[in-house]
Amino acid sequence: EKVTVSLIKADVGGIPGHSTVHPKLKEKASECLQEAKENGLLVDYRVLHVGDDLQLLMSHRRGIDSEEIHKLAWETFEAATKIAKELKLHGAGQDLLSDAFSGNIKGMGPGIAEMEFTERGSETLVAFMMDKTEPGSFNFPIYKIFADPFNTAGLIIDPLLIDGFIFEVWNIKDRKRIFLKCPEDLYLFLSLIGAKSKYVIKRIFPKDSSPLPKDEPVAVVSTEKLFFIAEKYVGKDDPVALVRAQSGLPALGEVLEPFSVPYLVSGWMRGSHAGPLMPVSFKDAQCTRFDGPPRVIAAGFQISHGNFIGPIDLFDDPAFDLARKKALELADYIRVLGPFEPHRLPPEEMEYTTLPGVLEKLETRFEELE
Ligand code: 13P
Ligand code: 13P
Ligand code: MG
Ligand code: MG
Ligand code: MG
Repeated sequence: EKVTVSLIKADVGGIPGHSTVHPKLKEKASECLQEAKENGLLVDYRVLHVGDDLQLLMSHRRGIDSEEIHKLAWETFEAATKIAKELKLHGAGQDLLSDAFSGNIKGMGPGIAEMEFTERGSETLVAFMMDKTEPGSFNFPIYKIFADPFNTAGLIIDPLLIDGFIFEVWNIKDRKRIFLKCPEDLYLFLSLIGAKSKYVIKRIFPKDSSPLPKDEPVAVVSTEKLFFIAEKYVGKDDPVALVRAQSGLPALGEVLEPFSVPYLVSGWMRGSHAGPLMPVSFKDAQCTRFDGPPRVIAAGFQISHGNFIGPIDLFDDPAFDLARKKALELADYIRVLGPFEPHRLPPEEMEYTTLPGVLEKLETRFEELE
């Protein structure tokens, strides 16, 4: 029995500023998705949010890139935008960069992580959602989960994991992709994905030795870059990921373990600063200090005949208190640098922010050196 899980998200307005989502937008989204469930288009759905991003988690039987599902998501965001405009929320319709839907939501502004797979006897799934950062922020944890034996004990002690996984990596600037196998390509893999603004892990696949179907992904990450669509700064590309766990895959605890360290990501204030990624509960999924710090939530499910059993709010747990405390200490430390790198992002990344408009004003005041 194959199921498709589609996690599609967009910022259609924040209250106040870019901090969080108004409950009325979530209510409207639930209404739209409930109707689609009653009409048989969706098997199930959940509406969530992190920061100012509205998250539509949907299960269905239409496969990935389904026009009907993408249209449903687009129209749901449009309906929520209408309310955001009435309430004059900040940046109403921010991530909807196109006027009309034309068959696929890709390239229109929203972020998408979707995969079709055969539902196992027990199907554990974690949906990760980040705000105030970019798709490359998943490189570090996804590497740790699927390729680092110091994180994932199963890579050493589980016969089903010992052969490793296949990684689909995208060069999002030049629009190319490469498949790398780990452990054999591990160093090549790291040489690419450490450059997280250019190379982004898109999907993970099982190897030939795995009993899982080889063409069905076990994890997928959204890779949409708003700047490449809008050609100007219109907010950050706050990413999402879906990760399957257990029974031939990393255990739930191995999937969550990388977030015990608040590693540094790009984004935060005006999409222009490096800062620690703080794992938080759903109730703390709002961005405040310096529009952050960047946050991640984790919604845990068992899938039963396409239905979402959950969510469990996985970071709502004292086990992640120390990560949060460290994140705050790191935030204090790096904020001291203000406009100086490496708090401010390097020039290549600042090109996607509002800084070029400032540099343009200086153009005529530069004098040539001998
Ligand atoms: P339980 O005995 O609690 O099911 O734990 C199994 C396990 O392998 C945890 O990592
Ligand atoms: P969002 O992408 O979350 O709207 O953030 C935009 C921003 O510039 C925050 O300072
Ligand atoms: Mg916003
Ligand atoms: Mg956002
Ligand atoms: Mg954004």
